[in-house]
Amino acid sequence: MDRIRISGGKSLNGTIKIGGAKNAALPLMAASLLTSETLCLSNLPHLADITTMVHLLSELGVEVSMNGDAPDGGHIGRVFGLNGYEPKNKTAPYDLVRRMRASILVLGPLLARWGEAKVSLPGGCAIGTRPVDLHLKGFEALGAKIELKEGYISAFAPDGLKGANVLFPSVSVGATENILMAATLADGKTTISNAAREPEIADLAYCLRKMGAEIEGIGSDTLRVIGKPELHAADYQVIPDRIETATYAVAAAITGGDILLKGTRLELIESVADVLMGAGVNVSEVEDGIRVTNPSGRVKGIDVMTEPYPGFPTDMQAQMMALLAVSEGASMITETIFENRFMHVPELCRMGADINVHGSSAIVRGVDKLSGAELMATDLRASISLVLAALAAEGETIINRVYHLDRGYERVEEKLAACGAVIERVEE
Ligand code: EPZ
Repeated sequence: MDRIRISGGKSLNGTIKIGGAKNAALPLMAASLLTSETLCLSNLPHLADITTMVHLLSELGVEVSMNGDAPDGGHIGRVFGLNGYEPKNKTAPYDLVRRMRASILVLGPLLARWGEAKVSLPGGCAIGTRPVDLHLKGFEALGAKIELKEGYISAFAPDGLKGANVLFPSVSVGATENILMAATLADGKTTISNAAREPEIADLAYCLRKMGAEIEGIGSDTLRVIGKPELHAADYQVIPDRIETATYAVAAAITGGDILLKGTRLELIESVADVLMGAGVNVSEVEDGIRVTNPSGRVKGIDVMTEPYPGFPTDMQAQMMALLAVSEGASMITETIFENRFMHVPELCRMGADINVHGSSAIVRGVDKLSGAELMATDLRASISLVLAALAAEGETIINRVYHLDRGYERVEEKLAACGAVIERVEE
């Protein structure tokens, strides 16, 4: 398994190109199942999760071809969707779903288009049990029959889905996306209340509109959909990845550097920018991007609580903790979305951080310096949090199990090295 070696203490200065959003690309790719024509997606990131979704769609009979390279050598592969024949099968197998929980997002499109679908229950992951009850209740509200057997979800709607009022008792990004996609082909009107408002959901809704869907309330917590008999071809460019953007903003802050983040927008990371500026970091909008500087090299402690969008994103909690571990003063970080998203804490403490977890809150007392160590990555965002801490630490850090990183960060060592980081991937 690959490892990453980092020699810390260098301030990062330079430009980083931000890629397309992983968490927008995955539902957008699943939307290709809603039409017999071709859905072309551009600005797709080159990530392990995208590759897994390509394998899953191919397994379901989607003809997928990726082509096109960004001028700067990145990857803006274009994904061609289902082109009109019956899918080979309507089952998303355990082997693929266990690798990527977002595989559950094929359930809604398959059920809406073909009246049946079988998807392995995704199971939990390092950050929590990750149930899918909200997805299933939503499909039942649309008239589907759901069976759970031998670790699989089987969903049936032989007479098609019927529009309905779907009220989510709690906010769920994936459930909102799944029900939204299913509703576009349901017979009649669907209202989704207490919908998640993440930008990735708006991106999906705009793409579905280009495919012929009728959706109102985009960006709000109430989505209204009038179902159509079918959707058609569309070309769509995926939005920039706001979590990648905010992650590299923290890289500039934690190393006392000056980084220009290109191909992204400040509005996508407003809640993170507010926290960074509250901690003393300069974050400003520039032509085609964002500039982040922290000349003082250190930040002040500040409290953070994760919330559904537009609140502070849970996917940035680990990264912000790395920064606050070397701040002046104390911070309280509260994780309200997932029940086990502090796996990075013991590893940061092994670098000399002073962090105490009490239930869903962590008290972080800033220290002057962290020291390099050999670390273990546990999940995607915990992994990048360790990279950020290593960039600021004295000495050398080795991070094991970096396959977690490759799920969500494209060419991370290249992008950081280009700004002066001493970082290399060690093939095992
Ligand atoms: C999406 O996961 C993202 N993944 C996650 O990013 C992100 O952390 C999360 O939204 C929250 O923003 C993708 O978009 C592929 P949820 P999702 O349904 O949809 C509970 C990353 O690092 N819940 O909004 O699975 C759930 O357990 C990943 O890129 C139910 O109880 O998140 C959690 O506590 C990690 N029942 C809360 O809701 C359900 O049916 C929010 O989960 C569904 C969810």
